[in-house]
Amino acid sequence: MSRSSRRSFLHKLAWGSAAMACGVELLGRQPDVLPEWLSRRRSFSANDHIQIAVIGAGGMGIADVTTALSIPGVQIVAACDLYDGRLAQARQRWGKDLFVTRDYREILARSEIDAVIVATPDFWHKKIAVEALAAGKAVYCEKPMVYAVDEGAAIIAAQQQSGKVFQVGSQGMSSLGNEKAKELYEAGAIGQLNYAEGFWARNSPLGAWQYPIPEDASPETVDWDRYLSITMQRPWDPLRFFRWRNYRDYGTGVSGDLFVHLFSSLHYITSSKGPRKIVATGGLRYWKDGREVPDVLLGIFDYPECTTHPGFNLSLRVNFVDGTSGNTFLRLVGNEGAMDVTWNDVFLYKNISVDPLDDAFFQQKISEGGTPVAPRARMLPPKKMHYQAEPHYKGAHYDHFVNFFHSMRTGNPVIEDALFGYRAAAPALLCNNSYFEERIIRWDPEELVVVH
Ligand SMILES: NC(=O)c1ccc[n+]([C@@H]2O[C@H](COP(=O)([O-])OP(=O)(O)OC[C@H]3O[C@@H](n4cnc5c(N)ncnc54)[C@H](O)[C@@H]3O)[C@@H](O)[C@H]2O)c1
Repeated sequence: MSRSSRRSFLHKLAWGSAAMACGVELLGRQPDVLPEWLSRRRSFSANDHIQIAVIGAGGMGIADVTTALSIPGVQIVAACDLYDGRLAQARQRWGKDLFVTRDYREILARSEIDAVIVATPDFWHKKIAVEALAAGKAVYCEKPMVYAVDEGAAIIAAQQQSGKVFQVGSQGMSSLGNEKAKELYEAGAIGQLNYAEGFWARNSPLGAWQYPIPEDASPETVDWDRYLSITMQRPWDPLRFFRWRNYRDYGTGVSGDLFVHLFSSLHYITSSKGPRKIVATGGLRYWKDGREVPDVLLGIFDYPECTTHPGFNLSLRVNFVDGTSGNTFLRLVGNEGAMDVTWNDVFLYKNISVDPLDDAFFQQKISEGGTPVAPRARMLPPKKMHYQAEPHYKGAHYDHFVNFFHSMRTGNPVIEDALFGYRAAAPALLCNNSYFEERIIRWDPEELVVVH
């Protein structure tokens, strides 16, 4: 066994065990074959479908339900939203018999509902998720799992106490791209990880959260009082309802919205628990529409050495005024190569060292001739490999819901539980603390506490 293949084998062994210890479960994919998980070990509703409801039937709620319904054996029976237009739209999409309400507690009280999708603005996630678990529902909670760092423990405890399935909606986690990257990383394809970086770039009003305000938006069509019932009271303001991401009372800024995806993928690929040092800077450079959060944000993170990876540095950025636009990637850099990872692709770059002193032929010529000669040209392995999902791949979002329903049917662990979701959300949220307080934040990813 050569040195590098032995190392690769040892990596596989060590990292494979680490992945198993973390309860990581990978779904074998055969897109055109009836999935194995459809063989049912327990029944759900009378017709043996999993019956779901959505709480927060806006942009992502609709996307989540649409994806969930594309999986055999799933039905939607109820929707909750605080804007009547969304409820009317839900009935148009999913049938006039759909139960609709402004009060999510009416959804949780309905025994025929097996699972809820929580796709409200971030500041409502914890309360609804905890109550849904206590009511015996499986929960698919959109990212970021929590709005504030001190909310994580409550969801972790609620998941443990209820024994119900709880999965966070960072769909990239379940993607073919992330799986391949994890496999390559664990096989030692890039050597020792020392640096990672990721970014999201956008350059449009919609991309920068300037969503349209419906013409009929008013305190009559929107349940404004209920919306604010867990935060500071304010006079009716449609911008604060429909463009909630721009305001710190309701959203978590670009880091909570987008860094969190990069943390989820990075932690999944490297089986990491998170960074110990967090610094963020940035500014509001262009979208000066009254928003309270930056549109350009840079984050720098220190990951401590642990059993699953060496110590390394991470740099993340979001730019909503990026002239090149439309790009996102996650890059992992090691001493033997690097990987660019998206949900559908992995580009693996190998660092091929051509050191003449290693070359036996060259050594021999030197000793025979006594005169240095140029090394003979050699056959080199590929420097760059592109792994690409097949064209009929249904995508990360589909796979993430397959994993969720699979766990509900089999009792197997989910791919992104509350503990994992919290470890991805916390450093993203702490970027906001660092940015607004202009200081370095220290985080203990084992104990899940801010270190003072
Ligand atoms: N996984 C992803 O890629 C992804 C993408 C987009 C959004 N998200 C997440 O999904 C969530 C929703 O984002 P969005 O873009 O769909 O926002 P959105 O504004 O389009 O939808 C949110 C909906 O929630 C409703 N709502 C607000 N408070 C509510 C409450 N207490 N009860 C019931 N309904 C309530 C609003 O009326 C609105 O229709 C956010 O947490 C966001 O971070 C995830």
